[in-house]
Amino acid sequence: MFEKDLLKDKVILVTGGGTGLGRSMGERFLELGAKLAIASRNVERLEKAAAEMSASSGGEVLPIGCDVRDPESVDAMVGTVFGHFGKVDVLLNNAAGNFISPTERLSSRAVDAVLGIVLHGTFYCTLAVGKRWIAAESGGTMLNIVTTYAETGSGYVVPSAAAKAGVLALTRSLAVEWAKYGIRMNAIAPGPFPTEGAWQRLLPSEELANRLIGRIPMGRVGDHAELANLAVFLISDRVSYVNGECVVIDGGEWLRGAGQFSDFECVTSEQWDAIATLVKGRKG
Ligand code: HXC
Ligand code: NAP
Repeated sequence: MFEKDLLKDKVILVTGGGTGLGRSMGERFLELGAKLAIASRNVERLEKAAAEMSASSGGEVLPIGCDVRDPESVDAMVGTVFGHFGKVDVLLNNAAGNFISPTERLSSRAVDAVLGIVLHGTFYCTLAVGKRWIAAESGGTMLNIVTTYAETGSGYVVPSAAAKAGVLALTRSLAVEWAKYGIRMNAIAPGPFPTEGAWQRLLPSEELANRLIGRIPMGRVGDHAELANLAVFLISDRVSYVNGECVVIDGGEWLRGAGQFSDFECVTSEQWDAIATLVKGRKG
């Protein structure tokens, strides 16, 4: 789909890049010639992932421990990446925290746990990288991973919905404010893509997973490669006029939920025949 060297020598910083979708996107960037820094809390897991990713691609992967909820930890991590590679071309804000719960069961600490990672963490990383790009007059590209319910809201994941809506607002706001510095900012809103992190916390039973998958018009969950290719497309210089956009990749899931008549999937072919006879008979 892409030229072999599309991302040659690009330095890409992926938060939460040692697991799940962050790792899959990072692996695709490496295949296309990028150099990678991956940052998250669990250093042991991060270092193992970096070694495996580097071994399979031959590319450079720098693992750095960082808690994105802590602005000092973020600034130190970003300083290390700039120090090591001499530059950063792309920031991928991917780290997140989430779990399902009725909202009235949440403590204030539970709310803070999600808002801290998703909204504050994304903001701190954006500031730490953005300030350096502005000072160096280098420009750069940011990509933020949100969710489809950042637009619509969703019950049972309310701190995540509020935080991701904030990240979407951040994306659109800075796409305008920082365009003058050559900084481009977009978002991806994925539907369900199986990862251990998300499935454990959001779909802990087969029944819940099947219920969610049953909502998807295409009848299947997303493939990591599909998301990774979209991420490559959006960070590539070949689409440098795309700014402030949020691209949904969900097999049509959220639109189905929004369409008033879309649940009429349950009507059988015989019933449609009967309905047509009845309704046509109402002419005049
Ligand atoms: C209610 C919960 C809870 C739960 C934690 N808490 N889990 N409350 N239900 N399931 C409460 C705790 O009791 C505590 O409050 C507070 O939250 C903080 O909990 P900690 O365990 O100390 O938090 P922490 O170690 O910071 O861990 C953060 C986390 C955890 C978000 C809770 O799940 C995490 O580390 N997640 C990272 C990975 C992740 O979430 N990946 C999924 C991303 S998927 P009290 O008051 O008791 O002290 C995604 C979108 C998916 O974002 C869309 C799918 C289609
Ligand atoms: P995941 O594997 O659990 O990824 C979350 C990552 O965030 C982990 O690598 C985790 O690493 C890191 N992280 C969490 N808290 C952190 C903190 N305080 N500081 C630094 N890093 C932290 O889940 P995923 O499914 O791949 O999710 C990746 C992204 O896709 C998230 O933004 C998520 O909201 C989004 N998304 C996923 C889906 C889906 O279906 N999977 C759907 C929509 C959106 P550590 O534990 O090492 O810190």
